[in-house]
Amino acid sequence: MKDKIEKLLKLREEAKLGGGEDKIKQQHAKGKLTARERVQLLVDEGSFQEVDLFVKHRSTDFGIDKQRIPGDGVITGFAKIDGRQIAIFSQDFTVFGGSLSETHAEKICKIMDMAMKIGIPLIGLNDSGGARIQEGVVSLGGYADIFLRNTLASGVIPQISAVLGPCAGGAVYSPAITDFIFMVKNTSHMFVTGPNVVKTVTHEEVSFEDLGGAETHSIKSGVAHFAFDSEVEVLENIRKLLNYMPLNWKDLPPEKEFDFENENPVTELDAIIPDNPNKPYDMKEIINLLLDNGEFLEVHSNYAENIIVGFGRVGGLSIGVIANQPSVLAGVLDINASVKGARFIRFCDAFNIPLLVLEDVPGFLPGTEQEWNGIIRHGSKLLFAFCEATVPKVTVITRKAYGGAYDVMNSKHIRGDFNFAWPSAEIAVMGPKGAVEIIFKKEITTAKDPAKKLVDMLSDYIEKFANPYIAAERGYIDEVIIPRETRQKLITVYQLLKTKVDLNPKKKHSNIPL
Ligand code: HXC
Repeated sequence: MKDKIEKLLKLREEAKLGGGEDKIKQQHAKGKLTARERVQLLVDEGSFQEVDLFVKHRSTDFGIDKQRIPGDGVITGFAKIDGRQIAIFSQDFTVFGGSLSETHAEKICKIMDMAMKIGIPLIGLNDSGGARIQEGVVSLGGYADIFLRNTLASGVIPQISAVLGPCAGGAVYSPAITDFIFMVKNTSHMFVTGPNVVKTVTHEEVSFEDLGGAETHSIKSGVAHFAFDSEVEVLENIRKLLNYMPLNWKDLPPEKEFDFENENPVTELDAIIPDNPNKPYDMKEIINLLLDNGEFLEVHSNYAENIIVGFGRVGGLSIGVIANQPSVLAGVLDINASVKGARFIRFCDAFNIPLLVLEDVPGFLPGTEQEWNGIIRHGSKLLFAFCEATVPKVTVITRKAYGGAYDVMNSKHIRGDFNFAWPSAEIAVMGPKGAVEIIFKKEITTAKDPAKKLVDMLSDYIEKFANPYIAAERGYIDEVIIPRETRQKLITVYQLLKTKVDLNPKKKHSNIPL
């Protein structure tokens, strides 16, 4: 037995080296960690239960039967993060560049199937040259097997992808189907076709980084939700993100202990809205003052910054925040902001995370660029997502709630559970100037002094409509509250809503305007 145990230990040690010392050195020289180092940094110490360490590929073409490396370029298994179970795969670039073979795909599918049966999140650490070229269509089939599982798992278990190296070709579509994508600046890349193909087809000269680097995808395309300077930061932030979500759709997000006795009014909130309604302010100040310990994990922080989305806690409960940002494009809703908001809402709704909407929105962005690119279709995604969501939904109107945007941003009419407004709220069909110029056009143009008439009409309109009281008279606003009271109100209503049940009609699935 002793010999056999020693043999096993030796085989394990060899297998854990992946492509070997030289390849590990090359990986480090590129500024990247190895697949195993990444798993160790991500999960709770000693919690990793690996499977399929000895799996080898079965291919014989192009002489690769002489390179049968245990593990076949991917580490798979189960572990704990902050004491909670997860399934994980981590591609090993030191073995055939982490490329996906038939067996490599089988290993990933095996833990995906288990994650679905157990009901635990799946984390994928991607670092791969794509389909293993020597295996041809078999490896393409392997990708398709993964795509199918990603799709079926969507909305059942949270799926998080980190792209920590190249991610090319169809391989980008597995991360793209998952809920969140993390990237590292300078070392990770995602593209459907690389710079060389781009040059051949479109004659554009573009670098790897410009075409598909972390900045490109976190600022321009919105493909990546998070971009960090180092892999260590990526792994730390995956741990943070998991803290806000349940293990699966039937589970509730983890609740933190909370001291309800020691809550005081947050007086700083009274001083944030400027006297001039056209002056911007930073909605993030409000978010930080409303959330427990001011802790906010922002998602898509550099993309479509006119809307802010992210996770925090109120009274210990995990919530998803969707807020207009008056300091960027006056907080207007455009195509990118609508799509960003809609996807975030649908994640929260799928995984029982209550929503908090902070609203200061002048409306949808006008113009040919927006209309021709489909603001109607894309804007309706945001509307659809709010309408469909059945989790607890609370809105606070801090200032403007104009036009269709009033309806869209979780109004009472689309099942907002608690809709509060600050006294600074302006709830109307449109802003005062635009409204007065339309409805009093004749009076203004025929007046002796049109400029004075406009000013008079404006002050009448502002007095009458630019406030929260007409909406409150109708019950469209449940309560007009003093800003400093907001946090306490939120703590109270989210506790009240803990047992909320709301259902949508039975159907196969809805048809969100894609
Ligand atoms: C087999 C591969 C491989 C692949 C890399 N390698 N990609 N082996 N299949 N797809 C091997 C290399 O031969 C090399 O082996 C080792 O991995 C490291 O690769 P290098 O090229 O030396 O590394 P680097 O310079 O860092 O470049 C990494 C790379 C490049 C950018 C990923 O290797 C590359 O462009 N690979 C091909 C990418 C690609 O086009 N993949 C197919 C995409 S299509 P040795 O033994 O020399 O160390 C696709 C279809 C998916 O994926 C379909 C889904 C719908």
